[in-house]
Amino acid sequence: MKYPIRSLEFKKNKLYLIDQRSLPQKYEEFICVNYKDVEFAITDMVVRGAPAIGVTAAYGVVLAALEFLKLPIKQFLEQMHSACNIINKSRPTAVNLMWAIKRMRTLLIDSDTPAEILRKLKAEADKIADEDIKTNKKMGQYGNSLIPQKATILTHCNTGALATVEYGTALGVVRAAVEAGKEIFVYADETRPRLQGARLTAWELVQEGIPAKLIADNVAATLIRDGKIDLILVGADRIAVNGDSANKIGTFMLSVLAKVYNVPFYIVAPTTTIDFDIETGSEIEIEERSAKEVTHINGVQVAPDTIEVFNPAFDVTPNDNITAIITEKGIINKPFKENILKL
Ligand code: MRU
Repeated sequence: MKYPIRSLEFKKNKLYLIDQRSLPQKYEEFICVNYKDVEFAITDMVVRGAPAIGVTAAYGVVLAALEFLKLPIKQFLEQMHSACNIINKSRPTAVNLMWAIKRMRTLLIDSDTPAEILRKLKAEADKIADEDIKTNKKMGQYGNSLIPQKATILTHCNTGALATVEYGTALGVVRAAVEAGKEIFVYADETRPRLQGARLTAWELVQEGIPAKLIADNVAATLIRDGKIDLILVGADRIAVNGDSANKIGTFMLSVLAKVYNVPFYIVAPTTTIDFDIETGSEIEIEERSAKEVTHINGVQVAPDTIEVFNPAFDVTPNDNITAIITEKGIINKPFKENILKL
C-alpha cells in the first residue's frame, strides 16, 4: 500500500481503484478499462463514498471518449451522452456523481474533434480529482477549529481517503486535528449492513496509528448517554438547500441521540454535495440495496432466506439536528437555508 492512501489513480488510459470490497483482508486493485467497468465499480461498491464516486464517474467519461474516439463527431457525441446517462444512473443518492457528469458533459461540443474533446475531458477529470484533495484539506482546517484539545469523536460509515480521492471529509477533520497535535480518540461505528466503519474506517485508523475503538452500531447510545463522546462527525451524500442531509443509514439515529444529550453533531461535506435544485431532504432519492446485504455477512447466511428485508442505504438527518455543516468554503451555521444560498 502506498502512502498517503489514495482511492483511485488514472494511469496509461486505465482507472485503478482500490477494491473496497476486499478490505481489510486483502489490498487489491480493480482496473477499469472502459466506462462499463466504471458503471459496475460504482454500482457494486468497488468504490464508494460520495466524492470518490464523483471523481470515478468523471474518469468513466474519459474512458468512454477513448472507446469512441475513432467515430465521426456526431456519432461520437451520441455515444458519449449515452455513456454519461449510464454512468449517471449507477447509484442514485450521492449527488457528486450527477454533479461530475454534468461538469464533464459541458465539454461535449460539436465544434471540437473527438481527440480535442478527449484531451479536455482528461484535463477536467484530473482537475476534479485535484480539487477534491484540496477541498478535503480545507475542510480539515475549518473542522479542526471546532475540535477541542483532547476530543473523543464518534464517526459513522467511512468518510476517509477511501471515500474521496485522498484525506477524507469527516475523517479528514480527524486527520487535521491529529496533524495539529491534538490528542484525539475515535469511536468508529461498524456501520451495518456493509460494515464500512469496521472494514474501511478501522483500516484507515490503524494505518495511521490514530487511537480508536471500533464499536457495534448499537453501542453509540450508551457512549453518548455516558458523556463519553465530545462530538460527532459524519459525511453527507446529498444536502438540500435547507440543510437536511442524506448520509449512511444510521446517521439520523445518531443525530437524534446527539440532540437529546446535547452533543455537537457536524456534517462535513464539500459544496459539491449540496443539491441546489432541492429545497428539503424529502426530495432526496434513497437507494435501496439487496436483501442479501442484511441476510448474509461475508457470504455467510445469518437470517432465513425467505425473510423479507428493508435495506435503505441512506437516511436523511433533519437540519434541526445538525449543529453546523463544515465545507471547504467555511463553516455553515444556522439558519442553513439563508447561509447555504449565500454560497
Ligand atoms: O454507501 P456508501 O459507502 O457509498 O456511503 C458513503 C457515505 O454515506 C459517506 O458517509 C458519504 O458518502 C460521505 S463520504 C466522504
